[in-house]
Amino acid sequence: MKLLVIGGGGREHALAWKLSQSPRIHKVYVAPGNAGTALEHGIENISLTEIPELIEFAKKEEIFITIVGPEIPLAAGIVDAFQAANLKIFGPTQQAAQLETSKVFAKEFMQRHNIPTATYKSFTDPVLAHQYIDQSVTPLVIKADGLAAGKGVIVAQTNEQAHSAVNNILVDKNYGNAGSEIIIEEFLRGIEVSFIVMTDGQHILPLATSQDHKRLQDGELGPNTGGMGAYSPTPFISPGLHAKIMHDIVTPVITGMKKEGINYRGFLYAGLMVTAKNEAKVLEFNCRLGDPETQPIMLRLKSDLFTLIEHAVNGSLNEVDIEWDRRAALCVVMAAHGYPENPRKNDVIQGLSDLIDEQNDTDNFHIFHSGTLAGGKNGEEILTAGGRVLCVTTLGENVKIAQQHVYKLIEKIHFNGYQIRRDIGYQGINYQRKN
Ligand code: AMP
Ligand code: GLY
Repeated sequence: MKLLVIGGGGREHALAWKLSQSPRIHKVYVAPGNAGTALEHGIENISLTEIPELIEFAKKEEIFITIVGPEIPLAAGIVDAFQAANLKIFGPTQQAAQLETSKVFAKEFMQRHNIPTATYKSFTDPVLAHQYIDQSVTPLVIKADGLAAGKGVIVAQTNEQAHSAVNNILVDKNYGNAGSEIIIEEFLRGIEVSFIVMTDGQHILPLATSQDHKRLQDGELGPNTGGMGAYSPTPFISPGLHAKIMHDIVTPVITGMKKEGINYRGFLYAGLMVTAKNEAKVLEFNCRLGDPETQPIMLRLKSDLFTLIEHAVNGSLNEVDIEWDRRAALCVVMAAHGYPENPRKNDVIQGLSDLIDEQNDTDNFHIFHSGTLAGGKNGEEILTAGGRVLCVTTLGENVKIAQQHVYKLIEKIHFNGYQIRRDIGYQGINYQRKN
């Protein structure tokens, strides 16, 4: 059978790599993929991006199931379009994806279904927003309603910063339509974790827990990014808290959607703040897997991912179990010079070919590509082609060992101006040390 994965980042590389290991799958197409997916056995890139041409391709190639990686095609209604063409696809519909594509929708939905989250107010009028800020205590979090490529959230430490965020979004319209409405919410303190599940609209299968590192620099400094590294599992979700998150957050989302006439089928990602009282509150929902969380999660997944997705598409997710490698997995993103503001392209990446031979002989690391492109002399070089370039992912007996392994591998890879964090997993490692 053949599958199609939509997207071209590290998350899609990891998904396609895992799917290609299924004994029932002989080809995984990735649209558009990257230089890393191009090198994998059983995976082939196709340079299509438009929904109608993807539908035509899926029909012609008799793709069994299409799996959607990023939010943009989900927001554009790729799932609705494939379903209308009688093609099997795994991901939420455009309506269901509003949980990610509209923060106002997500907040109102959480209120309707009593899902714990920061208190908030929404505004379209800047005058009212400014008045609200003057009556509130900072820090405050200002969020543009729509998709803003991870840049739509401003944590304002002072009133001035909050006012200027409002002006930036509502008055100067620097986020376009994504910023025609904002929410201003309470600042939550605690530890941020990622809780991702797959669901067929009725049954819910939680994936392994993880923790992402969103700031560019060590110690949570510098600008927010798409994620500079992640590890799985995180010790900050105890079995008790896990059960509470399933009961108070994830289940109410799926049943709430159903009550509102929406069948939520796909991956669901809850970004959570675990407070000092060991309570979890929702920071955001994503209607897809996380990037880079997917990379360590896929390295730990022992079950056949294709079988899980097949059951999810058929509504029988209750019939399958999911099995994980008991080891920890950790990934560090190597980002381009200038990321996140202005990533430089076309830097030559060195050191990958020796590591590819090595990774094929072991199950304990994999280098997933994000923004890479084959090019240079005779097309034999691998060049940087995006903000996040590589995601070096390892397994280890614990988080510390997995971390040491990643940084050893990174020493063998080079491209000009690369940026990495040196402390990925530090909270998990500190927790291990103390417990
Ligand atoms: P979001 O895209 O909503 O996850 O926001 C991006 C980042 O901003 C999150 O990963 C958090 O680090 C931070 N953030 C968002 N909302 C809050 C909040 N209410 N309190 C504290 N930090 C927040
Ligand atoms: N790693 C955060 C995200 O995928 O949104």
